[in-house]
Amino acid sequence: MSKNTKIHECDVLVIGSGAAGLSLAISLAKDDRKIIVLSKAQIGAGSTNYAQGGIAAVYNTEDDHDSVAEHVRDTLIAGAGICDESAVEFTLKNAHDSIAWLIEQGVPFDEKEEAYTKEQSPYHLHREGGHSHRRIFHAADHTGHTIQETLNKVALANPNIEILTNYHAIDLITTRKLGIAGNRVLGAYVYNNNDDCVETIKAKFTALCTGGASKVYQYTCNPEVSSGDGIAMAWRAGCRVANMEFNQFHPTTLYNQNDRNFLLTEALRGEGALLKRPNGTRFMPDYDERGELAPRDIVARAIDHEMKKLGVDCMFLDISHKSPEFITKHFPTIYERCLKIGLDITKQPIPIVPAAHFTCGGVMVDNHGRTDIDNLYAIGEVSYTGLHGANRLASNSLLECVVYGHAAAKDIIARLPLVSNIPDLPTWDESQVTNADEEVIIQHNWHELRLTMWDYVGIVRTDKRLERALHRINLLKDEVQEFYSNFRVSKNLLELRNLLQVAELIVKCSMNRKNSVGLHYNIDHLEAPTDKKPTILSPFEK
Ligand code: FAD
Ligand code: SIN
Repeated sequence: MSKNTKIHECDVLVIGSGAAGLSLAISLAKDDRKIIVLSKAQIGAGSTNYAQGGIAAVYNTEDDHDSVAEHVRDTLIAGAGICDESAVEFTLKNAHDSIAWLIEQGVPFDEKEEAYTKEQSPYHLHREGGHSHRRIFHAADHTGHTIQETLNKVALANPNIEILTNYHAIDLITTRKLGIAGNRVLGAYVYNNNDDCVETIKAKFTALCTGGASKVYQYTCNPEVSSGDGIAMAWRAGCRVANMEFNQFHPTTLYNQNDRNFLLTEALRGEGALLKRPNGTRFMPDYDERGELAPRDIVARAIDHEMKKLGVDCMFLDISHKSPEFITKHFPTIYERCLKIGLDITKQPIPIVPAAHFTCGGVMVDNHGRTDIDNLYAIGEVSYTGLHGANRLASNSLLECVVYGHAAAKDIIARLPLVSNIPDLPTWDESQVTNADEEVIIQHNWHELRLTMWDYVGIVRTDKRLERALHRINLLKDEVQEFYSNFRVSKNLLELRNLLQVAELIVKCSMNRKNSVGLHYNIDHLEAPTDKKPTILSPFEK
């Protein structure tokens, strides 16, 4: 029997407390609406907290003589021609208001030090790869942390929001699963990691804001929580997913034997840092006329190619030609982190390797963030809106979280008065399971999966590698499903089950795409696509 069958009730259940979850929750939490926000770890455990570069927006067209049309154009180019143009326009037109909202919440974006005209904004803007203008709002090189801390404060002070940390959503509860007509979400079963029990949350609306799935790869700059839980939960509940083949590899993470997940922001290259071979020569001009500021897929592939050609473990990023004052002012976090391992970036080049960074595909949503299931939304990195196409433009992701968080809040507020109360729900049944006796199986399968994905479904793919990966994933899925059916849930088991599901979706999307575009590069199909169609998978089509 379950130790605890506690039942919570709310108007809106927000699963995830990053930029997406908190933008949505704060925008909803007015009047008498009751919002529950979950995080499976601490409140700031998601990718948002680690974002460095910033958030892209054309806030004032007098800044660097920029325009929304040019931001749209840069996004479409980075997306390699397969973005959904209506989603791009929708997001980027709403960028101004999103920045204004963040400023209103108290986010202290860096301001200009140099003189500016009264028509320009006071904000200092960075430039990053693929952007034709300076348009990145930032707080030094710790923008994500600053946004997360600011939104945490606002959410924690709001009496309409209850934040439950160390609460791990297991699965959505839907009318379809209960044998009731239609497919509407009614809430979720959640594992309370504080008390080691499973609880039920009833909600009129539920939003998946669970972030991405880059932890499916051996090397990633993502935090522990990025295990694709929302994508797997949505898929199991009956949602379509799209473009899972496009996992973005960030070109520059610190190469260090003991610590391979620290990101070196693209803003370094935006401010003049150069990519070099071990012998000190530059290589990016051999690959793209935009050099170090080419879109990420091109830069990551060039690094991978150079490393394989030269048989070396890393390439180098060099900003030491800039003054120490400039470097320590703009990149204090990176400077300090490198210094800790004995590397002075004001004097030495930084060893770098690419690592899994961002999930461009996800749960299919419309411009309100609505999924295929009634009353279920997906916001932020968990979703596929069509904004990123085959490759995300730097700093468009935090923006997507805020724009769609607001759009979904508006939609939910309008629909809430029309939604009836949730009926009584069955509580979690543990009568058939026992405590796990072999936790080592989970650890072993976990390592095998992540290495398989890195080796076979990484920056460069082939048909054979994809087939091998799918074969391994199917075997692991069977083993883990058996484990799941017989033993009580644990955090690691839940994550492994989800990672396996997401890995299968990534491989299947990769197999379905018989061309190479953006982040999906298959040497058996080097031809470009002839249309802009996303790769869509439906759980109801075998
Ligand atoms: P996250 O911030 O990842 O939050 C996910 C939340 O969901 C967490 O609270 C987590 O605990 C919770 N969660 C997950 N699963 C469950 C579950 N089963 N039950 C309960 N809770 C769950 N983008 C930019 O635009 N600009 C940048 O400069 C930038 N830099 C980046 C640097 C790094 C190192 C990384 C990793 C990413 C960067 N990105 C950047 C990408 C961007 O940070 C993310 O895409 C964005 O923050 C995602 O926000 P989110 O709210 O969707 O998810
Ligand atoms: C970075 O700072 O390089 C990351 C920016 C992003 O992923 O958008």
